[in-house]
Amino acid sequence: MIEKNTIQEILDTACIEEVVGEFVTLKKRGARYLGLCPFHNEKTPSFTVTPRLGIYKCFGCSKGGDSVNFLMEHEKLSYPEALKYLAKKYNIEVEEKEKTPEQVAADKVEESLLNLTDFAAKYFAHNLHSTESGKAIGLSYFKERGFRDDIINKFGLGYALDQSTAFTDHALRMGYNLDFLKQTGLTKDKGTGAYDGFRGRVMFPIYNHLGRVIAFGGRTLSSDKKVPKYVNSPESAIYHKSKELYGIHLAKNAIQQHDNCYLVEGYTDVISLFQAGFEHVVASSGTALTTDQIKLIKRYTKNITILYDGDAAGIKAAFRGIDMILEEGMDVKIVLFPDGDDPDSYARSHRSSEVEEFLKKNTTNFIFFKTGLLLEESKGDPMKMATLTREIVTSIAIIPDRIIQAYYIRECAALLKFDEETLMNELNKIRRKNYEKKVKEQQNNNHTEASIFPLPIILTSPQKIDTSTSIEQEETDLINLIVKFSDERISYLVENDGKPEKWEYSVAQYVLKDLKRDDIKLSTPLYKKIIDVVEEQLKDGIVPNQHFFLYHDDIDISSLAVTLLSSKYFLSEWKRAKIFVKTIDTMLDYETPHTLLVFKWKFLILEANKKRHQLQEADDQEQLKIIQELIRIEGKKKTLSEVLLRPLTP
Ligand code: CTP
Ligand code: MN
Repeated sequence: MIEKNTIQEILDTACIEEVVGEFVTLKKRGARYLGLCPFHNEKTPSFTVTPRLGIYKCFGCSKGGDSVNFLMEHEKLSYPEALKYLAKKYNIEVEEKEKTPEQVAADKVEESLLNLTDFAAKYFAHNLHSTESGKAIGLSYFKERGFRDDIINKFGLGYALDQSTAFTDHALRMGYNLDFLKQTGLTKDKGTGAYDGFRGRVMFPIYNHLGRVIAFGGRTLSSDKKVPKYVNSPESAIYHKSKELYGIHLAKNAIQQHDNCYLVEGYTDVISLFQAGFEHVVASSGTALTTDQIKLIKRYTKNITILYDGDAAGIKAAFRGIDMILEEGMDVKIVLFPDGDDPDSYARSHRSSEVEEFLKKNTTNFIFFKTGLLLEESKGDPMKMATLTREIVTSIAIIPDRIIQAYYIRECAALLKFDEETLMNELNKIRRKNYEKKVKEQQNNNHTEASIFPLPIILTSPQKIDTSTSIEQEETDLINLIVKFSDERISYLVENDGKPEKWEYSVAQYVLKDLKRDDIKLSTPLYKKIIDVVEEQLKDGIVPNQHFFLYHDDIDISSLAVTLLSSKYFLSEWKRAKIFVKTIDTMLDYETPHTLLVFKWKFLILEANKKRHQLQEADDQEQLKIIQELIRIEGKKKTLSEVLLRPLTP
């Protein structure tokens, strides 16, 4: 955690034209700068930087934001990474917030371990290039496999001597700590003395995305079946296998450039493809892909192409993993290699142009691939066909984007010779089920959470509530909230049976529920329409998001969304606000009921005015009814204004 004052200092110091200027050539035009947009291809500059506001904006692709946002977008840094980048650039000392002594100690250990793995990688590389056995055994093995020198160096390949304590002795002599040696698995000890974890193996250092060595894979050169082919570093404070991808540090730029990532199985597949000029390649290193690994790729691209050498059985086993990728909203393609070939062997035995041609020809969208494969399997068997259909629709249901879902449903219906509506119904059924499951999971999780959250008590000064006779502004605020944040989660702690219980909603759910409870409708036709479509979505078990509004078929809805979502001032306010509160959700916890209250209050004022008007024209009998209604409205107004005007407690 970076200290909030430091964050403010960083934001105040950062010069947008300098930050952007490192990556884009800018020309001064009056009070602004102009350049070619780095986010899309263009020949005439439409990318502007406004120093006074500290923002950039492209009028071609409409990307825009502040310095932090630029670094996050352009360099794919996380929020804290971007801040640290700026701190370094402007020589601001980053004060890490309230690090506990344990955290400080843990950081120190991590740094020591990284220091050690770096040392080990250099040692193994030295063996490979400068020792007799390293050259004769290790280097010649790599050469035999066709690895070029520059590639061997790039991947930091090495060799562990076939001696029981060569490395451990050397490291201890150099002053490295035995405990750290053991933690990284570089040294082992079963009670009979320390010995090297890797012996007589060619070494593949594993780097994290920042390019630091965190672990090793060591391949045996023996053909003895009893010897494990690979020995890998154990989990440690610096190596969490399920979060890392082999090759990511070298691939990340190419992944961004190609907007695609090749996913292979092993170290050698990565290296061979890289050498053949396909640098956007990573490996999950023999394990099933994890969500963390997918998220790592997602930093750079939304497109994954999986290169499989498996047989049909292996592929089916992999289906589950692929559903996980779909769930992350990524587009998955698949390339199947011919029997007996894997990416490594194929890249070695073919010219780059041939590999390229092969990949191009054999890349299939995963959904169609799965459909085709299962179709072949269940030909003519109606029972099997039904199961198959459900399986495919299940995969489609996982895709978060509805437009893409609809596209797949249409295409698969054609492939399966099914009618589209049946598939759509099936899809909705599964989606609702998934949604219910998610809600249940969330509810279960909440019970374990101990922190007490205050009930929303909202402060608004009375003069802030506009008493004009139009309610449009209040309705706009409400719709703004929905379009921008409908799928954000908000939570409240309520007392249930004397016990605190956390209730969670999406912003959309909360707003809709609240309006329904008080039976209030919006009056602006377009806004009313938006509320209606949101309600429809929620009924289908879908929480609409920004994308939903932005790409809505109804042009009025989508253009309103564009207008609201591109009001930069509001957005950057929010982003900055993030610094002072824990998360944006915490802000929304207040903002959502607050916006509703203000809207409802105004609604009631207008309602009461209307009634008073009616009263003047009504006959005796009607008058009584209207007065009763007026009393009811005034009562509600009073309750609301009490909440509205109650001071905010810390
Ligand atoms: N793997 C492992 N332990 C094993 C076998 C495999 O950790 N005993 C992992 C390694 O990360 C390996 C990947 O699974 O890279 C794929 O395995 P395999 O295809 O057998 O290895 P390759 O790297 O392709 O090695 P080679 O081409 O030399 O057979
Ligand atoms: Mn292989």
